[in-house]
Amino acid sequence: MLNPKEFIEDAIIKIKEEIGDEKTIIALSGGVDSSVCSVLTQEAIGDNLTAIFVNHGLLREGEAEQVCSVFEERLNFKYVDASDEFLSELEGVDDPEEKRKIIGRVFIEVFEREAQAVDAKYLVQGTIAPDWIETEGEIKTHHNMALPSGMVLKVVEPVRDLYKDEVREVGTELGLPDSIVQRQPFPGPGLGVRVVGALTRDNLAVCRAADAIVREEVEKAGLDKELWQYFAVLTDTKVTGVKGDERDFGYLIVIRLISSIDAMTATVPEMPWDVIRTISRRITSEVSEVTHVALSISDKPPSTIEFC
Ligand code: XMP
Repeated sequence: MLNPKEFIEDAIIKIKEEIGDEKTIIALSGGVDSSVCSVLTQEAIGDNLTAIFVNHGLLREGEAEQVCSVFEERLNFKYVDASDEFLSELEGVDDPEEKRKIIGRVFIEVFEREAQAVDAKYLVQGTIAPDWIETEGEIKTHHNMALPSGMVLKVVEPVRDLYKDEVREVGTELGLPDSIVQRQPFPGPGLGVRVVGALTRDNLAVCRAADAIVREEVEKAGLDKELWQYFAVLTDTKVTGVKGDERDFGYLIVIRLISSIDAMTATVPEMPWDVIRTISRRITSEVSEVTHVALSISDKPPSTIEFC
């Protein structure tokens, strides 16, 4: 059983020993893993840590504001709005893996600029146990990351031996709010993998608006703690509808509500029908581009959690 208080004390000592007085950076996404690592490292080495939050233009509604408000005061925090840079490269790209590649590449470019600006020597990463157990099958304690410019950052992974629920316990002990500690996993490429087909600023906005309604209603019904992930997917299917007296031809949104313990497998749980109906009605009435809402009832496997 993890004792979060002892874990924090030990982690701070270890981080101090490992990094010393060197400048350090972390890519802070606002997810629980990188948030916990940021706060632990700040407590260990103070403002020698710069926590960089990159807005890639694929965030959910209100996300940038929320992450900034939690961390601006608490960390040596830098908000980088790189959304134009990402979106101009992504515009019109429809292949999911191509989207991921572009997002990954531009992220490294942005991050590298920030690392050079502070002359960082260390990179803190929020790797947790399932990440390396699945990918490596062995314990590797030290490895470095070479950036394209040749800059080499030494990698520090303060929570690499913890599981998600333990990271959450540590986050609570560190005084992080529930909005961070209990946050549902959100993919690095963000809404980029929740818009099927070519990405445009307009269809990202439709996906973002529908997603905000799903989140709001699930949370209002108190179902957020039971679900692993809950979100909206914007498909590239257009569906006939009728709004007012007019025939309309708008988007099909799919709602995905998922139970899981580790995202390797997932099931679709039974949900109160009034919540589903409210979500559907709100999306079709509040998001004018949408004419039809469907509920995904596919487990993983054979489906994946994300659509792209
Ligand atoms: P799938 O769709 O493969 O998703 O069943 C499993 C879990 O991984 C998340 N996911 C991603 N996370 N980059 C990420 O950081 C990605 O490209 C990516 N694709 C999927 C997904 O949200 C789910 O939790």
